[in-house]
Amino acid sequence: MLSRHIFGILVGINLIIAVICQSRSYFNRNCPENRANGVRECKIYVNTRLDFINFRQWTSALGNVVKVSLDVTCSSNGRIYLPWPMKATGLIKLNVEGCILEGFASEFNKPTNLKDELQELSMDNCVIVSNLDSIFDIIYKPVTQEYDCGQQTLRSAVRRNISYMFPNINDQQLSKRHEALLMSSSDELIKKAKQKRYRCNYSELNYIDQSLSRTRSKLYLRLMTAYSEYPKLQTFLIADNGYRTVPQELIDWRTSFHNLHC
Ligand SMILES: *[C@@H]1O[C@H](CO)[C@@H](O)[C@H](O)[C@H]1NC(C)=O
Ligand SMILES: *[C@@H]1O[C@H](CO)[C@@H](O)[C@H](O)[C@H]1NC(C)=O
Repeated sequence: MLSRHIFGILVGINLIIAVICQSRSYFNRNCPENRANGVRECKIYVNTRLDFINFRQWTSALGNVVKVSLDVTCSSNGRIYLPWPMKATGLIKLNVEGCILEGFASEFNKPTNLKDELQELSMDNCVIVSNLDSIFDIIYKPVTQEYDCGQQTLRSAVRRNISYMFPNINDQQLSKRHEALLMSSSDELIKKAKQKRYRCNYSELNYIDQSLSRTRSKLYLRLMTAYSEYPKLQTFLIADNGYRTVPQELIDWRTSFHNLHC
């Protein structure tokens, strides 16, 4: 009995080690150092699923001095578990193209205790998969300042053609409770904005591109400026092509539930 128990533990430990080593060696392999600037440049093609948490563990093991860039392209089914504001030790540049994003709001109330380092963020043609309850969490519960502001070290923030998908609802299924929450979400966001005891200061940000996304509501722009500074902003592209996947009534708060515009 005992020996079987110990055997079980050993197998368990081995499995854990194998998984950790696999992701370490995976990133070691896919992130060669660029000799010219010393940056570990990760270029990853995702066919199945990539977990940003594994990447974060890998970079934290590299130590504080190593700078890293992460460039991800997905196949049509490629997914990334990518919690906003996407912090990882040493990560200065993040590029995500054509991916399904999961867990985007999963750290809204959990401080990472990592410092802001990201300078360039670019997300293109991505679909954020979410559910109503996590959206309502962000609107109605306290979010960390870290989540709210995003990374204030950004110089360039590009977010083109980002849409949202709510796999578990259709209009008929929206419960009375959800309807009520939905109706008062704008008021709640404005109220919350007024109560902020901090300001987000994007002191390096000079370029924002949010083109090819759905119409921005007045509320969105209002929230974007209510408690944020953009002292160096020079370019703000906000062209719109009326891209359609999200029900009209969700737009107000889908554009404002996180501050990707940081
Ligand atoms: C926007 O992104 C979606 C999802 O990735 C993609 O299917 C679509 O072709 C993109 N649209 C444009 C105009 O690039
Ligand atoms: C924002 O940050 C810059 C640079 O650190 C600083 O000069 C400026 O005073 C800050 N603005 C506010 C409103 O805190």
